[in-house]
Amino acid sequence: MATTLDVLLKEQRVFNPPKGLVEKSNIKQWMDKHGIGSYEELLEKSQDLDWYWDEVAKELEWFRPWSKVLEWAPPYAKWFVGGKFNITYNAVDRHMKTKNKDKIAYIWEGEPGDVRNITYAQLYEEVNRLANALKSLGVKRGDRVGIYLPMIPELPIAMLACAKMGAVHSVVFSGFSVKGLQDRINDAGAKILITCDETYRRGGIVPIKKNADEALENAPTVEKMIVVRRTGGNVAMKPGRDIWWGEITKTQPTEAKTEELDPEDLIYILYTSGTTGKPKGILHVHGGYAVATYWTLKTVFDLKDDDVWWCAADIGWVTGHSYIVYAPLMLGVTSVMYEGAPAFPEPDRWWEIIEKYNVSVFYTSPTSIRAHMRMGDEWPKKRNMSTLRLLGSVGEPINPEAWVWYYKNIGAERCPIMDTWWQTETGSFCISPLPITPLKPGSATKPLPGYSADVFDDRGNSLTNAGGSVVLLSPWPAMLRGIYKDPERYQNTYWGKYPAIYLTGDMGRKDEDGYFWVQGRADDILKVAGHRIGNSEIESALVSHAKVAEAAVIGKPHEVKGESIVAFVVTKQGIAADEALKKELKEHVSREIGKIARPDEILFVPDVPKTRSGKIMRRIIKAVAIGEVPGDISTLANPEAVEEIKRAK
Ligand code: PRX
Repeated sequence: MATTLDVLLKEQRVFNPPKGLVEKSNIKQWMDKHGIGSYEELLEKSQDLDWYWDEVAKELEWFRPWSKVLEWAPPYAKWFVGGKFNITYNAVDRHMKTKNKDKIAYIWEGEPGDVRNITYAQLYEEVNRLANALKSLGVKRGDRVGIYLPMIPELPIAMLACAKMGAVHSVVFSGFSVKGLQDRINDAGAKILITCDETYRRGGIVPIKKNADEALENAPTVEKMIVVRRTGGNVAMKPGRDIWWGEITKTQPTEAKTEELDPEDLIYILYTSGTTGKPKGILHVHGGYAVATYWTLKTVFDLKDDDVWWCAADIGWVTGHSYIVYAPLMLGVTSVMYEGAPAFPEPDRWWEIIEKYNVSVFYTSPTSIRAHMRMGDEWPKKRNMSTLRLLGSVGEPINPEAWVWYYKNIGAERCPIMDTWWQTETGSFCISPLPITPLKPGSATKPLPGYSADVFDDRGNSLTNAGGSVVLLSPWPAMLRGIYKDPERYQNTYWGKYPAIYLTGDMGRKDEDGYFWVQGRADDILKVAGHRIGNSEIESALVSHAKVAEAAVIGKPHEVKGESIVAFVVTKQGIAADEALKKELKEHVSREIGKIARPDEILFVPDVPKTRSGKIMRRIIKAVAIGEVPGDISTLANPEAVEEIKRAK
């Protein structure tokens, strides 16, 4: 029988949030304080960026207030000019003066089921000990510290300690392997690497330190490696270089100096995939980043003092940086942090965690939702999740089936879903509903207050109800400040197409009500299970194999993961293109980049379609591979290669 929900969806009607939620929401209270009567009025008034962000920034603690909210000299913005600030002071130190001191900051659960509750006071002490330890190793303000850790409490502790002393952290997702790690720490010029012995994944052991050791064989800037003991497994420590975390922090004082920084001082470099083989080091700063992440979490997910927040992402990605580490701590809430695989040992592990810790607001990705959907409705049914009041989604467009499943099976038709659109580069949510926003399932709704977005055609005309490039029209506090050591790439990638307007790289549509429907990337970047991977990164890994001459990688639509990775490979002369080589190449990519980049399919071809200048035409390959008409192929240097792709697929 069709439920009201099915009817609503079929008619594409707007989905109004529950009245009780609206009335009590943080954003409504803020609007009342400022005499703002409606959502529309809020969006309009907040376009006065100086006024809006000035009001918002006052909620955090500054060592010295700013004299100017924004200095905008495209493509460079400075926010809260003249202020003095430190994000760790706001995330940790200031709670020592309030009742938050003894509140639990993180409920951490390891994959084997071990639990650690960490209060704000304990976090404060651990952060200080590590900051002092780093100082004793010669780390100074502005130095880069590489962090290669799984989801264990030492990861946020390490980030906060760096930020506290004005050092710049660069976290590398623990799912990356040797080369992925090595490239990133070399680009960042990290002085120290913080890692651990091993971690647990799906009941097995992941050799973290072993990867780090191999990466350091060719990472000349790294002087010391700090190693957390997680599993207690036997790992080799290199004398003079490697130090146990437990030993170096044990003797340190539990008080440490918090640097009073310029709000524009770097807080971190986080690498993300671009359209070339070389990842981009995205730069974020203390002040504006803190203001926007804090405020978007407070208003979109409406977090209150007694909420238990669970962002089920990995801290190795921006979602975790902003919404597991910095924003929830600045808000002083309790967060759940989980180390392991989502459906281990049983498919209801996540739902069990929600039940066990009374999670009230839960945030995940469409890929995870689809994966759970496949495992069956009986798993969430086994658990009592009545504490949930709001749900969230991020990383990819959420398809209606996944939306409905999530809404019914996890939220019990009670919890609105906040579909948040943003990027590593944007630092904070940009296009997203608030709890007061009427929802249209599948749409991230409208730009948040203080943000403005549009959809443009190639000439920069605004489009309604037609597909085009999603752009952001004005600067925002958490925007990236550049690409590390590559200002030209920063200018060309984001600001080159339309002057002073930020090109997101996404395609989408804006409907007649101003709602955004983001469809996916316009450029050669894959989204596989929510992870962002450049086609050319995988191609570079493939051609680094001795038997490969050329490779072209495309994404094919996939029911669960959004996209799957298909590689067309041209082998060197005389090489047997057989099943054994396919396996070998898949393993090679896993080793080079990490399991997330492992091709799902490898197809051998004698040639790949190219332009006369030698550019591989992925668009044409993809069209052929998914059974579409490839369009004009007359400009190719080797049109016959198209037939070969057809034959191979
Ligand atoms: O294509 C968009 C997609 O994810 C890209 C950003 O990826 P990343 O930098 O890895 O950050 C992911 C987490 C913030 C975007 O360019 N994306 C992100 N959120 C959504 C989305 N696509 C549709 N709807 C979303 N809510």
